[in-house]
Amino acid sequence: MEGWRMDDLSILVVDDEAVIRDGLRRILDGKSFRVETCSSGHVAIELLQQKDFGLIITDLKMPGMNGIEVLKAVKALQPDVPVIMITGYAAVDTAVNAMQHGAVDYIAKPFTPEQILDKVERALEQRTVMLDDIYLRKQIISCHGFHQFIGESKEMQKVYHRIMHVAATNSTVLITGESGTGKELAARAIHENSPRKEKPFVAVDCSSLAETLLESELFGHVKGSFTGALQTKTGLFKIADGGTLFLDEVSNISLSTQAKLLRALQERKITPIGGTQLVPIDIHLVAATNKNLRTMANEGSFREDLFFRLNIIPIELPRLHDRKQDIPILIRHFLKKYTAEIGKEIRGVAPDVLSFLENYAYPGNVRELENMIERAVVLAESDIIRNEDLELWDSNDSSSYEMIEHIPLNAEELKEMKRHIRDHAIESLESVFVRNALERSNWNVTRAAEETGILRPNFQSMMKKLGISVKGEH
Ligand SMILES: Nc1ncnc2c1ncn2[C@@H]1O[C@H](COP(=O)(O)OP(=O)(O)OP(=O)(O)O)[C@@H](O)[C@H]1O
Ligand SMILES: [Mg+2]
Repeated sequence: MEGWRMDDLSILVVDDEAVIRDGLRRILDGKSFRVETCSSGHVAIELLQQKDFGLIITDLKMPGMNGIEVLKAVKALQPDVPVIMITGYAAVDTAVNAMQHGAVDYIAKPFTPEQILDKVERALEQRTVMLDDIYLRKQIISCHGFHQFIGESKEMQKVYHRIMHVAATNSTVLITGESGTGKELAARAIHENSPRKEKPFVAVDCSSLAETLLESELFGHVKGSFTGALQTKTGLFKIADGGTLFLDEVSNISLSTQAKLLRALQERKITPIGGTQLVPIDIHLVAATNKNLRTMANEGSFREDLFFRLNIIPIELPRLHDRKQDIPILIRHFLKKYTAEIGKEIRGVAPDVLSFLENYAYPGNVRELENMIERAVVLAESDIIRNEDLELWDSNDSSSYEMIEHIPLNAEELKEMKRHIRDHAIESLESVFVRNALERSNWNVTRAAEETGILRPNFQSMMKKLGISVKGEH
């Protein structure tokens, strides 16, 4: 947002009481302010996600989501926008609390039009000087946790800003993005940049566990609470205490576990399975998914109330194809990483390889590029990655695919399967190639390498990667 102008941004009024909403609208309308109103914190947050406001006036006490939560969301989504809190008469301590969370002012009920206008005008005048982009960028680059997160495009800058702001709050974050766009990396960056960084970062892959197992992992269980519960087990909510809990692939949580999760988040307390005591929890929850939870909520396969709880601060990771300008620095980054790991000296990629890589669609996003570079480093015969190396991963090669067990039903599944098949096909091809060469040379690595025309260390790297060892060796 560039310098704020009265005539292009509205004041957002959030209050569950229609009388207050209408009263404020009338007072502000009278002074030609543009006003929008809404009756709940959830709706306010949705609006904040969609457009910029000049000022927020929110009630403190509202059912569902209170004013402090709205305030925190504003701090993450639109950090420069001032917030005025409406509090009950004489609620000084809550007003102080609101100011500590970053509200610029508060208005105690009942109020007069003059009081309101005075506070609004003052808040707008005092509006903090815009955060300097360059300043923030410098801060980000020097911050621990971003050195692995590569990207200079404006799409990625937006992501870094959002991460920085959300790391300073305790608001729940929902990270979305296609497979391989860096959702887990983003979750870790939030943790690393938060005041919780010395405490644990606990990641749970919600798709890899059966329903009952997931619940006992998350909430823990008491000894004897079900068959097989031989020991009391501490849940991950508790293990992550004081730190960050990362729920990966949240779309895979069953509806009944979703209900329990929602309760835990609302009450900030959990009950271990078979237990009776409520245990308080202190975590920053970060969730991730490559599905569209809003659509799932509309279809009834994901609880809408949980979706709202999770989606307080959304972070959407761009597809690699939509930030092509980052491809060269990503290549450099992965070349450095894998040459160090594999122990080869490679100076760079040939120009035609670069132009191929810059124009490729990357259905598997950064992960796919990373795999390509790793493979190329393993296979490269000289100190430059050449086109010949690329031929092995030609995406048009459809010769050796195995039977397809599952027919993809939508574009997303098709994309995912294509990626899987491609990776798999290349791996099988390499495996057959290496094994065959070894068979022919009677498992003599030096001869196999010689006969296939591959340098011995490279041949060995391939074997290592494919998990092939010479008989008798480990
Ligand atoms: N911006 C980036 N800079 C450097 N590496 C990245 C970036 N984004 C992703 N990666 C790398 O790509 C790989 C995939 O990233 P990550 O696991 O975070 O993706 P994801 O979005 O969680 O994918 P999935 O949905 O398949 O779980 C990782 O090895 C990660 O280090
Ligand atoms: Mg992931």
